[in-house]
Amino acid sequence: MHLYIHIPFCESKCHYCSFTSLKKKDYEEAYFKALLEDLKFQFDYFKLSKNSIQTLFIGGGTPSVVEEKFYEKIFNFLAPYLSQNSENTIEANPKSSIDSWLKNMKNFGLNRISFGAQSFHSKKLEFLGRQHTQKELFESVENAKKNGFENINLDLIYDTKFDDKKMLDFELLHLEKIKKNLKHVSAYHLSIEKNTAFANCFHFKKNAPRLMKYFIEQIQILGFKQYEISNFGRICKHNLAYWQGKDYIGCGLSAVGFLKNQRFYTAKNLKTYILNPSLRQIENLNQKELCLERLFLGFRSKVGVHKKILNTIQIQKANELVANKKLELKNNRFYNLNFLISDELALYLAP
Ligand SMILES: C[S@@+](CC[C@H](N)C(=O)[O-])C[C@H]1O[C@@H](n2cnc3c(N)ncnc32)[C@H](O)[C@@H]1O
Ligand code: SF4
Repeated sequence: MHLYIHIPFCESKCHYCSFTSLKKKDYEEAYFKALLEDLKFQFDYFKLSKNSIQTLFIGGGTPSVVEEKFYEKIFNFLAPYLSQNSENTIEANPKSSIDSWLKNMKNFGLNRISFGAQSFHSKKLEFLGRQHTQKELFESVENAKKNGFENINLDLIYDTKFDDKKMLDFELLHLEKIKKNLKHVSAYHLSIEKNTAFANCFHFKKNAPRLMKYFIEQIQILGFKQYEISNFGRICKHNLAYWQGKDYIGCGLSAVGFLKNQRFYTAKNLKTYILNPSLRQIENLNQKELCLERLFLGFRSKVGVHKKILNTIQIQKANELVANKKLELKNNRFYNLNFLISDELALYLAP
């Protein structure tokens, strides 16, 4: 089983971000009490046995804005369920991940940390509404390493209006400086989302496929092999499980879980969640929807799409794409040869 936990607090709201994140920290105590109740209920409901969790991902929001004391009971409860070699990731922000927090997180059993870096450039950081500096980013990665984190990821954002070749080279130069301490890079092209400060500001995105291709190639030259449209380096087992369509439990505010052909949604409102953390809205997925999801996730990543989930017409279309060198067929799986057109391929083969 795989487990996602959402921590919905942030110091401030970044201009591009539509993730569930709240500025108020007054609710931490009540939130963590509810989260523990939620975890206990879910584990009981799905009859989880000891050592059965293969990957844990604590995301946000910004888990590093929450003091370590709040996590203690959560980890006391989780510890027996985590398998011996489980990959346990936590997201962190360079501003808030101070030395003692990193040390405690390592002691709690976390072995992978993902920093929201977004950029090394002060002008771009300011534009994105980030609070940290390049210096703080370098320091937090050093501190994570010093505190025993060997599996470190950096999130970057590109294809913003500032990302000309000069800016991308600046990012790559700094990535190279820090790469000895990293195992993974996530590079997301800016997406303009509703209900954010960037909403409707489509001109904030550069929309430059050639530069995007250049950035992706250069990240690979630095030694981080691409295995998904936005992910490079040592494969994140948790995300891989999502893309393979494996079952996972989601706990915390506006978290999502997936089991067989059902998706489970927790409450999206903080007070509702605190009052009723085990409440789930259930979405039943039909075969068509499940197939579409496999197409999108499979073509965006190295996972590919197995022939057995496709009908005769889809297989015929996929074979045409193989002939046109857009897909590759190996051991009954179709693999995408260009992640930048993955969504188009999925839509073309949609049932
Ligand atoms: C939930 S955030 C976690 C990191 C942490 N909260 C922080 O920002 O420091 C996950 C990542 O999604 C990416 N992201 C969020 N919104 C995005 C958007 N609109 N366009 C591109 N990337 C985005 C950012 O790179 C961000 O680091
Ligand atoms: S990008 Fe991270 S820090 Fe910024 S608002 Fe979103 S979750 Fe919070």
